[in-house]
Amino acid sequence: MRTLREIPALREALADARRRGDRIALVPTMGNLHAGHLALVEAARERAEVVIATIFVNPMQFGAGEDLDAYPRTLEEDQARLEAAGCDLLFAPEVATVYSRPLEAQTRILVPEVTEGLCGASRPGHFDGVSTIVGMLFNLVQPDLACFGEKDYQQLAVIRRMVADLHFPIEILGVPIVRAEDGLALSSRNGYLSAEERATAPRLYQTLCELRDALEADADIEATLAAGTRRLEEAGFVPDYLELRAVDLGAVTPATREAVLLVAARLGTTRLIDNLTLTLP
Ligand code: PAJ
Repeated sequence: MRTLREIPALREALADARRRGDRIALVPTMGNLHAGHLALVEAARERAEVVIATIFVNPMQFGAGEDLDAYPRTLEEDQARLEAAGCDLLFAPEVATVYSRPLEAQTRILVPEVTEGLCGASRPGHFDGVSTIVGMLFNLVQPDLACFGEKDYQQLAVIRRMVADLHFPIEILGVPIVRAEDGLALSSRNGYLSAEERATAPRLYQTLCELRDALEADADIEATLAAGTRRLEEAGFVPDYLELRAVDLGAVTPATREAVLLVAARLGTTRLIDNLTLTLP
């Protein structure tokens, strides 16, 4: 696997692949890779001749007071994991390579509606940073396919909307959530949890499963969500939101069948997110 730091080297490596007529798959990440990220690489590997991962801790998507500086940077381990997973190219640029001017002077991609509510409400500006960097990577790499985890459900919806609105000729593949044995969705932020918090953390997914079972058995939605919030608080979480939406993130109506439960909650200083799809009766 070749690691590229600069844009001209990236373009050159991709031009070779394109001349050969290879199908190119992109896996954007912020590094500190775990089995969830590697599932994206594997999905890409199955569908394309050339797999390119990116590692960039994107300052534009972090709010004031968020964990930009503390975010784990583990490039050497990440390179070894990507290589073992069959990744061909890694693009790992410096901030100054990606953003040549101060962040507030940078051109942005804004995706309305689907960014409202949920994480868009608790993290103002976050999705503007995500759509801008992903749009930039799409433009730099021009992949045939790009893979994203369903763990970041709203992020995946934002990217699908951007690709449709801006007519990017790129197939977007959503990859199911990879979980630890106790159900906790794998996340680079799990490393922030103390041993005690790590023991509590699986309650997030357990609660989603209990709520899904209740809702699929026709329980009242409002009362079930209120009970879920209480259960999370009793376990020690501070919930940001616990919501039921249609799978396209629209509001649930009496006609909605395929729905998704979405949660974000803080455990100590760590913010965890998770989601679970279900079928309403
Ligand atoms: P990051 O949090 O590093 O995640 C990179 C990709 O891995 C995302 O598509 C995310 O949904 C996926 N992922 C993370 N944990 C997962 C899990 N347990 N199971 C399945 N997929 C998982 O998401 C970002 O980075 C950034 O916002 C990015 C898209 C790279 C833009 O900066």
